[in-house]
Amino acid sequence: AKPSVYVTRQINKEALDILNQKCDVSVWAGPGPVPRDELLRNIKDKSGLFCMLTDKIDSELLDNAGKNLKIIATMSVGYDHFDVNEIKKRGIRMAYTPDILTDATAELAVALLLATSRRLLEANEEARTGGWKAWSPFWMCGPGLKGSTVGIVGFGRIGQEIAKRLKAFGPARIVYFNRSEKINEAREIGADRVSFDELLSVSDFISVSCSLTPDTKEMFNEAAFKKMKKTAVFINTSRGGVVDQDALVRALEDGTIWGAGLDVMTPEPLQVEHPLFKLRNCVILPHIGSACSETRNDMAILTAKNIVAALTNQPLLTELKV
Ligand code: GLV
Ligand code: GLV
Repeated sequence: AKPSVYVTRQINKEALDILNQKCDVSVWAGPGPVPRDELLRNIKDKSGLFCMLTDKIDSELLDNAGKNLKIIATMSVGYDHFDVNEIKKRGIRMAYTPDILTDATAELAVALLLATSRRLLEANEEARTGGWKAWSPFWMCGPGLKGSTVGIVGFGRIGQEIAKRLKAFGPARIVYFNRSEKINEAREIGADRVSFDELLSVSDFISVSCSLTPDTKEMFNEAAFKKMKKTAVFINTSRGGVVDQDALVRALEDGTIWGAGLDVMTPEPLQVEHPLFKLRNCVILPHIGSACSETRNDMAILTAKNIVAALTNQPLLTELKV
């Protein structure tokens, strides 16, 4: 018998075909995420799990799966939805989708930064609703990148690509904060490594691209926002959990910082009544960092290939080793 695989979401045919060749595949039929009870029931006795960042992979799920489960592959680069220790303890392999979404995510970060600093959504709203009375010299103005200092928090693959793209806009300086040095990458890009506090205080634009870990959880708290310039633009395309969101709301309300652009928040989806939606100086996107059509197709294909590789005792293409 072919090994059995559960897929927690509707995926593209190309990825499904890869799975179907070697596996007995069942797919959650619903349009949205699989409900938790449905997932717990369907994971029973499966050999592989194809999941998303919306599926929490914890000991409860692993207990329900049983001893057959050999591979958990997530169609995402982030893996904070994995209880890594519990998965490793059971000898289950893990896969994710680094690299192939780097360009798409960096592109989105730049788009979000410009949308925030140049007030694109607010301006569009004004234009549509009669707020545009005449071209006006100081109306809808925001800070420019030329001559600015850009701060990148998390100088991994995505952070570096954001820095490269922003460099084209002519900032005076790019600084970064990262756990490891990244000397060669930084030299190539022309970025300076600084402490977190220095980055906060010198940057006009702060773009976050680190992963969510116990170390980075809520690193952007009230104290951090207070260290930023009053003119600072804060951009987050990593995980909502790196921000103390209530502190961010206060910082945006009282002018501690100038504005924010968020592709990620807590919780997701953010309820439409949330105070962040009431702020004109906050641009909110529904976690679309990697949402390029080609990228999402490739992510699903890579996830499928990782599962097939694990279940046919081949090396994984992108094994998550942590
Ligand atoms: C998206 O947030 C991802 O982790 O791929
Ligand atoms: C703007 O359109 C200008 O001509 O300055």
